[in-house]
Amino acid sequence: MTPVVRATTAEDAEALQALVGAVALERRYLGATQPFTLEQTHGYLAHVQASGGVALVADVDARLVGWVDVLSGPFEGLTHYGRLGMGVAADARGQGIGRALLLEALRQGFERFTRIELEVFASNTRAHALYRRAGFVEEGRRRAARILDGVTDDILMLGLLREEWKPSR
Ligand SMILES: CC(C)(COP(=O)(O)OP(=O)(O)OC[C@H]1O[C@@H](n2cnc3c(N)ncnc32)[C@H](O)[C@@H]1OP(=O)(O)O)[C@@H](O)C(=O)NCCC(=O)NCCS
Repeated sequence: MTPVVRATTAEDAEALQALVGAVALERRYLGATQPFTLEQTHGYLAHVQASGGVALVADVDARLVGWVDVLSGPFEGLTHYGRLGMGVAADARGQGIGRALLLEALRQGFERFTRIELEVFASNTRAHALYRRAGFVEEGRRRAARILDGVTDDILMLGLLREEWKPSR
């Protein structure tokens, strides 16, 4: 299955809302546990565009199955870094789509940002492995940072600097 990775457009809002919402409802991988509204999704897309961030989606057979974004830090002095988030539809995982999205997001992200960072739940071993293989370095651990459904989890803080990044990974 070869995904087509492309820039997200306003026409993707409904499919993106459904996909992000489904991953949120899994209650394991994202900070959000409830879907965002369509209005919030449009707002997010407008923000990405206005702030010069990166937003990509992956299609397989014209179905939107994954997303990645890299959003600029919010204040003066913090705009040299981008914060990365991503996800792939549950039935499309483990087939290289996340890796394809991540590598293209890093390629485009490092055209603008000199540092890309993210947070991942320690229990999310697949995402953690993907990020480490791409070169992300573990920079910190927020211990017992989430308590959800009776499960306590740490949050790992990962970062990658432009000069550390090897596009061939
Ligand atoms: C994390 C996620 C984006 C990865 O995307 P994916 O398409 O499933 O991943 P890929 O198939 O591209 O595999 C990427 C790496 O993940 C790891 N991986 C893949 N399948 C795995 C599995 N079943 N178990 C553990 N690790 C696995 C491997 O390290 C793999 O790298 P490799 O192909 O070089 O061996 C995806 O699984 C997902 O959306 N998970 C839920 C949402 C989420 O966790 N988002 C990130 C929040 S920080």
